[in-house]
Amino acid sequence: MRISRVMVWLSAVFSMSAVSSEWPTDLAVSPSAVNMTLQPKVVVNSGRLEWAPFKRDLTRWPSLSHADKQPTPKPRKVMLEEPLNGDPIRGRELALAREKGYCIVCHELPGEAWPGTVGARVLNFKQHNYSNELVFQQIFDSRAFNPNSVMPPYGTFGILNEQEIRDLVAYLQSLD
Ligand code: HEC
Repeated sequence: MRISRVMVWLSAVFSMSAVSSEWPTDLAVSPSAVNMTLQPKVVVNSGRLEWAPFKRDLTRWPSLSHADKQPTPKPRKVMLEEPLNGDPIRGRELALAREKGYCIVCHELPGEAWPGTVGARVLNFKQHNYSNELVFQQIFDSRAFNPNSVMPPYGTFGILNEQEIRDLVAYLQSLD
């Protein structure tokens, strides 16, 4: 009885070390290209995925890995100089663009398909009567209001520049 338990334990240890010594075939991060992620591509009618390089260099982005010693940029409070001078049409494009704001992945936006449900529904936004400055800060770095926010700090992390955030504020404030 005892011996068989030890055998089970030993075989578990050995099979674990065998697995960890080689990379899984569908690994999302290439061990040879540190900080360059790969993105999955469906191979049509095969039931398989291929991993293609994700082109963007994510070196500046801190990850959740214990090995990543890069400090996370601190939350930043910003002032908005009025007039806003934002372009609401460009703002809508930014809100839908995967490479830019991609706000739709978390927020429902009026008339747009496939919204996410992580953030609040952003419909009739103008009715909140928020100041431009508050909305600008929310997009620039939402951690100023909520330290545990899951919304990306677009300004602090340099994902969107100041004019792009102005365009987004103009777009949201135009939703009545
Ligand atoms: C990863 C999910 C996520 C993404 C992407 C995201 N948000 Fe948010 N957003 C949230 C969450 C969650 C909240 C609720 C407040 C908080 O937790 O900070 C929020 C709150 C807001 C608010 C405040 C709403 C209110 O009525 O108080 C605004 C405005 C906003 N987001 C705009 C945007 C814009 C514009 C973008 C794209 C540039 C965006 N969000 C991208 C998750 C997200």
